[in-house]
Amino acid sequence: MKFETRSVHVGVDKDSAYNSATTPIYPTSTFVWDNLTSNRGFDYTRSGNPTRSALEENITSLEGGYQCRATSTGMSAIVTALQLFKPGDHIIAGDDIYGGTYRLFSDVFTRMGLKFTFVKMRELARVEAAITPETKCIWIETPSNPLMNLVDIEAISALANKSDLITIADNTFMSPYLQRPFEMGVDVVVHSTTKYLNGHSDVVGGCVVSREKEIAEKVAYTVNAMGLGCSPFDAWLVLRGIKTLGPRMEAHQRAAQAVVEMLSGHANVEHVYYPGLESHPQHELAKKQQHGFGAMLSFDVKGGRPEAEKVFDRSELFLLAESLGGVESLMEYPETMSHASMTLDARREAGITEKTIRVSIGIEHPDDLVSDLKQALDF
Ligand SMILES: Cc1ncc(COP(=O)(O)O)c(C=O)c1O
Repeated sequence: MKFETRSVHVGVDKDSAYNSATTPIYPTSTFVWDNLTSNRGFDYTRSGNPTRSALEENITSLEGGYQCRATSTGMSAIVTALQLFKPGDHIIAGDDIYGGTYRLFSDVFTRMGLKFTFVKMRELARVEAAITPETKCIWIETPSNPLMNLVDIEAISALANKSDLITIADNTFMSPYLQRPFEMGVDVVVHSTTKYLNGHSDVVGGCVVSREKEIAEKVAYTVNAMGLGCSPFDAWLVLRGIKTLGPRMEAHQRAAQAVVEMLSGHANVEHVYYPGLESHPQHELAKKQQHGFGAMLSFDVKGGRPEAEKVFDRSELFLLAESLGGVESLMEYPETMSHASMTLDARREAGITEKTIRVSIGIEHPDDLVSDLKQALDF
C-alpha cells in the first residue's frame, strides 16, 4: 500500500468487539488476566496499551522500521534512545540541533557520564575527525533547527558503518512523508510527534523507531522500565492526526513556497534559510534525500532585535509561539525562545543571531500568509 493509505489504515481498524472504524481509546491502567498464566496480550498500560500499540504499528509502517515505541514527549523519546549508551561513551552531534536536545546532551547526560562533541555536521571531514575510540553514536538532525542546514544522511550512515557506530536521526522537521532515514542506512529514528505527525498543536508526544530487532528490544525495555510511554488519550490523538499527514504536508509545502518567494524579494529581509531555494548551499542534497522541501524556514530581518520585534508585533496571522508542524502558522524568536537554553556563545557559533526569525508554515491559504507577513515586514 502507498504511504497515504497506510497512514489511514495501518494499526487502526482492529476492534473485534464492535468493528468500529476508528481505534477505541483504552483508558485503563491494568488488564484482567484469564487465569494465572495468560492474558489477552496486555497486562499493564505502562508496558503496553492497545491504543498506543495501534499508533506504534502505524508509525513503524510509515518509517519502514521494525518496531516503534510511542513516548510521552519528543524529549522522552530522545532520553529513551540515549539509554542505548553507558557512561564514558561518546556521541557526535550537530552544533545547531534543537536547543532542548542540546541542553539534554550538554548538561543532563554529560552529568551522567556521556561525552558529546558538537560539530558542523554538514562537513563530513569534521564529523570524521571527531570520532574517537569511545565514540558510539552519530546523532543526526536534518534539516537543523532553526537555520535549515542539512546533514547528508547517506554519507554519515556510511561513515558510521565503517566505524561500527549507531546512527540516530531526529526526523521531526520532515516527517516520514518527506524523509525516511532508514532507507539511507540510519539505525534509529526519533520524533517529536507533537509536530507534524500529530499536526494539530493539541498534544505533546514522541516516538522511537528501530530498524532492527536487537535495538528495538532495548528501546522497548527502556520505555517500560523508565515509564516513558504516552497515555492512551495522547496516542489516540496522534493516530488521528497521522491519517492526514500526507495531504497536510502537501498543503504546508505549497504555502511555504509562496511565503519564501515573497521573503526572498523583500527589502527588509537579509537572508532566507529554506532548502527549497536554489541558492541554498545544500539544495541538491535536499532534492536527493528529501521528498519535498518541508514547511520550516527561517529568515534574518535587516537590522537587529528592534526590527525583528516589529515583525512579531505587526503580524496578525502568525502566532508568536514555539513549536512547529501544526495546521496554524507560528513565528518565534530563537534568541529568547526555542534556543534560549543554548549559551549565547553556542548560539552565535551556530549562526543564530538577533535578526533570526523562525517560521512554521501552517495550512492556511498561501495568499493570506503572504499578505500578512508582507505587511508585517513593510515597517
Ligand atoms: C527537532 C526536535 N526534536 C525534539 C523536540 C522535543 O520534542 P517535545 O517538545 O515533544 O518534547 C523538538 C521540540 O521542539 C524538536 O523541534
